Amino acid sequence: MLDSEEDLRAILHSSAVDILVSRQKSRIDVTALLQRAPPRYAKLASVDKSSPTETDEALDDAIITMRQGLAGMVSGKLDMEQIAQSAASARRAVEAAPDLFMQVTRLKTKDKGTYLHSISVAGLMAQMAVLLEFDEDLVDEIGRAGILHDLGKLLIPNAILNKPGKLNATEMRMIRSHPEIGYRHMKKLGGVSNLILDVCRLHHEALDGSGYPLGLKAEQINTAVRICTVFDVFDALTSVRSYKKAWSTAEALTWMYDKPNLFDRKLVLRLGSMFR
Ligand SMILES: [Fe+2]
Repeated sequence: MLDSEEDLRAILHSSAVDILVSRQKSRIDVTALLQRAPPRYAKLASVDKSSPTETDEALDDAIITMRQGLAGMVSGKLDMEQIAQSAASARRAVEAAPDLFMQVTRLKTKDKGTYLHSISVAGLMAQMAVLLEFDEDLVDEIGRAGILHDLGKLLIPNAILNKPGKLNATEMRMIRSHPEIGYRHMKKLGGVSNLILDVCRLHHEALDGSGYPLGLKAEQINTAVRICTVFDVFDALTSVRSYKKAWSTAEALTWMYDKPNLFDRKLVLRLGSMFR
């Protein structure tokens, strides 16, 4: 929350890499001030280069290759080549225009469900890995982990997954079993890296130990898993669901930033720096 222009100027002249400012809570017009900020901050006021159609096409590509990669899932084969391709299309779409990517994925989430959620999370995770300066191979692996993180959901009946009303205890238990189901399924198929298995099994863990399935604490949760958790929730908050409207990026960021017991704050800040 910023009270005065002086505060903002002091921050801009500090060595801070990322800052997260709440426009709603601040008492000054942050957007206008940032537009007048020095060139170093030009990114904040830049205009997207890609068109919505390009982003749209990249996402359609990603969905098609993801479906192909997962086609043999039940009979016992994941096509990792296709999965990697799908993650790469998602990554390119985020890189080209993060804001557009968000807009387009938000619009489509309603009818394409889990597929689009996974693609959205994969693209954002890979972009975060780039920001954290991970090497290329790791960036790609993190993207594939994003595509596969909710694999267990595809093995749960749609009637339960998309049920509009309140879930009973059994249904809730089934939905909450998806990380373990996905993990066991991939483990059985073989040829899936430990990082991908961890991300799938642990992406609903929370830093304070209140998550599931294992109730792990912060020190037991690695960065790849933390990145997935952050974007999994961010994507859910900013998407339309049968029971809620889509939150804005700023609302989702503020909500998550206020919960350091659940989410890695450094990652939430970095997430904020991905959007204007
Ligand atoms: Fe999940």
